Amino acid sequence: MASSFTSNTPLDPSLYSLDPAAREFSKQQTGITEDDELKHHILAVQAKAFAVESYYAAARTSIRLRPTIVSTLSLKISRHPKYQSVLQLGRDYKEALFLDLGCCFGNDVRKAVADGWPVTRMISTDIRQELWDLGHVLFRSTPASFPSHFISGNCLDPTFLSSEPGPSSQSLPDLSSLTSLNDLRGKLTAIHAASIFHLFSQEEQASLVRAVASLLSPAPGSIAFGSHVGYPKQGTIRWKGPGMKADKYCYDPESWNKLWEDAGPFKTETILKEVTGPNGGIGWTMVWSATISTKSAV
Ligand SMILES: C[S@@+](CC[C@H](N)C(=O)[O-])C[C@H]1O[C@@H](n2cnc3c(N)ncnc32)[C@H](O)[C@@H]1O
Repeated sequence: MASSFTSNTPLDPSLYSLDPAAREFSKQQTGITEDDELKHHILAVQAKAFAVESYYAAARTSIRLRPTIVSTLSLKISRHPKYQSVLQLGRDYKEALFLDLGCCFGNDVRKAVADGWPVTRMISTDIRQELWDLGHVLFRSTPASFPSHFISGNCLDPTFLSSEPGPSSQSLPDLSSLTSLNDLRGKLTAIHAASIFHLFSQEEQASLVRAVASLLSPAPGSIAFGSHVGYPKQGTIRWKGPGMKADKYCYDPESWNKLWEDAGPFKTETILKEVTGPNGGIGWTMVWSATISTKSAV
């Protein structure tokens, strides 16, 4: 069953509210020092993002589901329990590559780069090139000033990212001319995926776990980590908010861990955190990681 979304929520600037860390980071990145100017700038980018969204993409991003983009700017990556050890991998291994799956504006990769991950060893991917381009507008950067790699594509399309078993890529392709994530098979040290798995059906999520696992280097310590909507007992839940509703398939920590353990020699750590949704309702976020524990081809 594919997730289905409907939304007629208009943009509502009165809902603008940045958490202190996101505000500070946005100021550092943009060079904007005044709160009012920052708000004006972010809302202007939000309006552009809203305008480029097609119905399909709207269904697949939080931009319409939540009437502001500020939830996307909240630097989830830096609150992940594995964040510091992932940054250490970037310091320890000169060749280590990082991928952010479903990067949207690229705020999480920008945070990791600001905290030390080398920008040229950072790869981001999203189905919408426009969102990445708007990230440059949002953070007042250019491909020259922020020379991280970006590749657009549908992570459910096997020609872009396959979940079928296959050999690792022989040599590292030129990252500046990547056309498919399949060329990175077995090459990545860290993969971050926030708020993307829950967009997909039960089967799509399972297949995407296998696909992401196949991109990781078989070296012990290689890690996939992230967060998305979960539930105490796996199944389909109905999400309701102002002007929108969504059916989502949610794994629970046990079934989510099993997907990874079936996909390779992974040590999994998953917790379910209770959160209060935008409409005051209770929800759950699954914060997870899957780390290669023994040297073996995945
Ligand atoms: C809810 S946003 C999450 C953005 C960011 N990772 C975060 O945590 O704030 C989901 C992102 O996944 C992207 N996306 C949706 N479907 C996708 C697909 N099939 N392949 C690649 N990216 C997709 C959307 O364009 C959007 O940027």
